[in-house]
Amino acid sequence: MEKEMLDTINKLKKEKNAVILAHYYVDGEVQAIADYVGDSFYLSRIAAETDADVILFCGVSFMGESAKILSPEKRVVMADELADCPMAHMVELEKIQEVRQQYPDVAVVCYVNSTAEIKTAADVCVTSSNAVKVVKALPAKQIFFVPDNNLGRYVADQLPEKEFIFHDGFCHVHVSIQREAVIKAKEAHPEALVLAHPECTQDVLELADYIGSTSGIIDYATKSQNREFIICTEMGIFYELGQKNPDKRFYAVGHRQFCHNMKRITLDKVVNALETLEPQVLLDEKTMEAARAPLARMLELAGK
Ligand code: 13P
Ligand code: SF4
Repeated sequence: MEKEMLDTINKLKKEKNAVILAHYYVDGEVQAIADYVGDSFYLSRIAAETDADVILFCGVSFMGESAKILSPEKRVVMADELADCPMAHMVELEKIQEVRQQYPDVAVVCYVNSTAEIKTAADVCVTSSNAVKVVKALPAKQIFFVPDNNLGRYVADQLPEKEFIFHDGFCHVHVSIQREAVIKAKEAHPEALVLAHPECTQDVLELADYIGSTSGIIDYATKSQNREFIICTEMGIFYELGQKNPDKRFYAVGHRQFCHNMKRITLDKVVNALETLEPQVLLDEKTMEAARAPLARMLELAGK
C-alpha cells in the first residue's frame, strides 16, 4: 500500500475520531489498515465497548447493523453499503411466528448473520464462536435455530440434551466446499490438518480435525505443532493465517472459497467513507431496541 494512502487514512481517523473494524474475510490490504480485525463475535464486542465517535465497518450489512444496535449513539458507517450477506435474508418473520405458535416453549436462536428485523423476533443471538456455549446455557429444551442449517446441525450434534428445529438457510461460500475436494486436498497434502468453519456441510465437517469460527481456526493453526493445514472457509482468512504463521503452509480446497460481498470493500471506499461519513447505518428506534435484547443476551451468556 502506498504510504500516502495510509497517511490519509490515519489523518482522517484522527480528525473524525473514528475506529476501523474489519472482518477476516475482507482483502488483506483492508485488514492491514484496520484498528481491530476479528470474527463476528469479537467485532460485536469491540463495537459495544469502543469510545470512538465513529465506527467504520469493513464487512457486510448485518455486522454494521449489530454495531449500531449495540452502540446506538455512535455513527456507524459502512465501507460499502451493498456488501450484504445473502444468508441474512434466508428466514422470514412469519416463519418464526409459525414455529412459536406450534411450539410455545421454543427458544428462537438467531445466528448473527441475519437482518435486524429477524433479530427482533429472537430470544438470543449467537455467532459461530459462541453458539454451543450460548445454546447450552439456555433453559429451553426446544430450539429453533435460524437461518443457517449447517451451523444449527453442528450445534445440535454437540448438545444432545436439546431438541432442535432447523431452518434451511446456508452460506453459498461454505457449501461450495465439497467433501470430494477436501479428500483430494488431503491426498495431495497428507501431513496437513483440516480446519473447517461450522457453516460447511456435515460431510465436510466429518473430515475436519478442528471446527471453529474464523478466530478459532487462526488460533488453532497458530498454536498447533503441525506445519500444514487445509482451510475450509473463506479465502480472506489466509491473510491473518500468513501474518501469524509465516513458516506454516495453508492450502485452499478450491477456487470458490470467495465471498464477493466481503470483497467489495476496497481501500478507496474506506477513504471515501472516512471523508464523507457515509453511507451510515440507520435503523429505527423500535427495531434497535427489540434487536438489542437478544444481542445483549448473547454477550452476557458468552461471557464478554
Ligand atoms: P465468524 O463468526 O467466524 O466471523 O464467521 C462469520 C461469517 O460470515 C462466516 O461466513
Ligand atoms: Fe455471508 Fe457466507 Fe459471506 Fe459469511 S462468507 S458473509 S455467511 S455469504
